Amino acid sequence: MSEPTGAARRRGPFKVGDQVQLTDPKGRHYTFTLEEGKSFHTHKGAFPHDELIGAPEGSVVRTTGNVAYLALRPLLPDYVLSMPRGAAVVYPKDAGQILAMADIFPGARVVEAGVGSGSLSSFLLRAIGDDGMLHSYERRADFAEIATQNVERYFGGPHPAWTLTVGDLQDNLSDADVDRVILDMLAPWECLEAVSKALVPGGILCAYVATTTQMARTVEAIREHGTFNEPSAWETMVRTWHVEGLAVRPDHRMIGHTGFLLTARRLADGVEPPLRRRRPAKGAYGEDYTGPGKDQAAASGGSSAERG
Ligand SMILES: C[S@@+](CC[C@H](N)C(=O)[O-])C[C@H]1O[C@@H](n2cnc3c(N)ncnc32)[C@H](O)[C@@H]1O
Repeated sequence: MSEPTGAARRRGPFKVGDQVQLTDPKGRHYTFTLEEGKSFHTHKGAFPHDELIGAPEGSVVRTTGNVAYLALRPLLPDYVLSMPRGAAVVYPKDAGQILAMADIFPGARVVEAGVGSGSLSSFLLRAIGDDGMLHSYERRADFAEIATQNVERYFGGPHPAWTLTVGDLQDNLSDADVDRVILDMLAPWECLEAVSKALVPGGILCAYVATTTQMARTVEAIREHGTFNEPSAWETMVRTWHVEGLAVRPDHRMIGHTGFLLTARRLADGVEPPLRRRRPAKGAYGEDYTGPGKDQAAASGGSSAERG
């Protein structure tokens, strides 16, 4: 049985064409591709690639200036943070959440937009595997080109489950019986009609947005659309720790904000979304609220001007 696409590049001794991530004594990373006869140059001397070809991962190489570098293959989270970017990438912590909470499974039929630099596309392709389907839509041809190069460099060539279409999702989405749709774009609410048509009953829409205003607009538009269940919205924060003897504390620096995630599931055709048991908080849809769902919410008793 042949190995899944890209798997052979992730294990065994280093080979020509592999990506190598070096870590210097200060913990800084440098990534390059192994080529026969080439040298890797640093401020503290160089070493030949040939020293690593055939060596096991986790080897240590020394430059001519006697500085030791640890050599490992970059993991996908390392790779997406170091690859060339067109647009901002989905960070590994959010990619992990998307894979788990949007329930991405081997063989799944997934649609994604936009593609940006291809970070999330790579995570999705790894999760669905060669027998899944990922159809990605990106409105900018230049970003689609960068993403293609990034994804192909990671998998060592084209991925059999991947199709990339240049254009707006809402105008081009042609897939049916889609299990999962992942939106990472400015205005996910513009895509709801197309997404709803594409998703199977029970299918999941997952949106990743950068601001609270986008999150609120998307949630209200999903409710208003009427073909999804009640959306869930959340964010995650990851705080790394310094652990050294008695100095055990959170690191001083952290990435404080990346984005918000939300999910909702497609109802069966012709089904009315069940009424929410809880009434909206008082004032939630008061006179200052002008977004989607205002009339419905007012009718269900949520229009008081009190603070929610
Ligand atoms: C933040 S980037 C996506 C990053 C990507 N998920 C990654 O992990 O590298 C957002 C992208 O969505 C694209 N975009 C915005 N609206 C779109 C739409 N309606 N259809 C297709 N692409 C869209 C933009 O051109 C941009 O490249």
